[in-house]
Amino acid sequence: MCGIVGYIGCSEAAPVLLKGLKNLEYRGYDSVGMATVSDSLKVFRGVGKIEKATENLDLRTLQGRVGIGHTRWATHGDVSEKNAHPHLDCKKRIAIVHNGIIENYKDLRDRLVEKGHEFKSNTDSEVIAHLIEDNMDDAMSFEEACITSFKELDGSYAVLAVLRDDQKIVAARKDSPLVIGLGEGELYFASDVSALIEWTKDVVYLQNHDVVVATAEGDMSFYNLIEEQEVKRRRDTVGWDAEQARKGEFEHFMLKEISEQAETVSRAILQDDEVIERIIDEVRRAKGVFFVGCGSSYHACLAGSYLFSKVAGVHVNLVLASEFENYEHFLTDETLVFAVSQSGETADVLDAVKAAKRRGSKVIAVTNVVGSSLMRAGDMMLLMNSGPEICVLSTKTYTSQVVLMAFLAYALAGKRDDCTKSIRNLYMDIFNLTSKTMREHLKGLAALLVSSEHIFMIGRGLQYATALEAALKVKEVSYIHTEAFAGGELKHGPLALIERGTPVFIFVGRNNREKVLSNAHEVKARGGVLIGISEQDEEPFDMWIKVPECGNFNPIIQAIPMQVLAYELAVQRGLDPDKPRNLAKCVTVL
Ligand code: G6P
Repeated sequence: MCGIVGYIGCSEAAPVLLKGLKNLEYRGYDSVGMATVSDSLKVFRGVGKIEKATENLDLRTLQGRVGIGHTRWATHGDVSEKNAHPHLDCKKRIAIVHNGIIENYKDLRDRLVEKGHEFKSNTDSEVIAHLIEDNMDDAMSFEEACITSFKELDGSYAVLAVLRDDQKIVAARKDSPLVIGLGEGELYFASDVSALIEWTKDVVYLQNHDVVVATAEGDMSFYNLIEEQEVKRRRDTVGWDAEQARKGEFEHFMLKEISEQAETVSRAILQDDEVIERIIDEVRRAKGVFFVGCGSSYHACLAGSYLFSKVAGVHVNLVLASEFENYEHFLTDETLVFAVSQSGETADVLDAVKAAKRRGSKVIAVTNVVGSSLMRAGDMMLLMNSGPEICVLSTKTYTSQVVLMAFLAYALAGKRDDCTKSIRNLYMDIFNLTSKTMREHLKGLAALLVSSEHIFMIGRGLQYATALEAALKVKEVSYIHTEAFAGGELKHGPLALIERGTPVFIFVGRNNREKVLSNAHEVKARGGVLIGISEQDEEPFDMWIKVPECGNFNPIIQAIPMQVLAYELAVQRGLDPDKPRNLAKCVTVL
């Protein structure tokens, strides 16, 4: 999704904004823009990734110690300079940047056009600048006009607004994230903390419907649109450090984050005993448990639902967050919903949480981001402890999610120590799977697959969840069409897709080895090329990725070489693995 940044203080704003935007680029990267306030409003907009869009930009043309910036992921309006933020009012006095969607923008726009406002873009966001202008024309101050305008907006927004001749930023949020970093006499605004931890670890998380007016002296006043009064907001300290959000010696964040998994998997089980006990009590008491997530988080939920069934004998309803509304009528005040989201900002997940709350159900938030909307919305929470994940693709947070699910399942079965022991034992295995030797092996395999048009993946049980996750990784980063199937489903359709030379990955677990190998033979008989992921080389395999057999922990171990393979495929195809086309890490629209 889009990312927004702001700066107000004693230094020039533009270099800070540019750095902040680079830190946030994973949220969206089709266009970029900045506005700074000095004697006039200076505006820059460019199309493409930040590096490219700003290569000829002279930052001296963006003077001022107050500024706002935006990196865009198009929703309303095509990718073009005119649709890039910031958006201005007619008199070019007001500039705004916006993340979210203004649902009633058409009505507002029609009304403003009728009053003579001229719109320059096709975005929903531009309406905010004109609305503020219109209210200022009615003799309101900038702050009053902002507050009145925000009250008129339906939908979601994190907005920063500046006015020419005024050393202020007015910011607001509703259902889109916004955090303020507190420096020495300076303030930073960003969509998430990873963009500002290199400057400060002291932050204030804005709450829903908050508006803040920040001055050049570093003062802030908070107002809540629902409470209709001034409010106080707490100062927090971020646990992450700036080093974790840098690439270091790695060429890409994706490889760095894959390589961190020996540590992050171990960290995921560092949970407060009391919290785990309380969650387990809730599961036992609940009449109906749901796991809800999107993308990789959904795949972790799938592995989790099998583990809850196998290890703890607890039935779980697994639902894609975007489909959750179809089950709303099952929800009661005795239902327990696990909402799983790395970012804690995915709109579909937050929407599902709202539905659960409407029905009085309890929500356990499982997230990686402290201060996220999901964390605040949950009745209880579990943190993944993975550190910042910058690459658009989930890697280390996926395995941490699976660890958390396994940990809960084992805890429910009264076998928490067994789980802790098994996870500790994975350390060396993960270390080896992310080693240089393994990477070289997978680089060779990637070279053989790099020109494939289609790749298929099959697995059964826990290995089916891994096949789905592996296929998502490969397709989103390499753009090779990759699909996963449950082994048993192969004969119900997908076999028709197998031709001579079609690559098919087979994920083997000891508990379903025979069955999945019989699927492998079905593929082989039709000319498919088999790549096995298993503890031993098997007769039908043409190629083999050796992984240790880890039983219920296979989803962690088998996912890792596939992440490396996906990375190598992207690199060999000349693609940027950290920022796949059309995707964003944090999808804050429904
Ligand atoms: C986006 C990302 C995926 C991620 C999904 C869910 O689509 O590109 O990598 O799995 O969102 O994100 P969440 O933050 O809710 O886990």
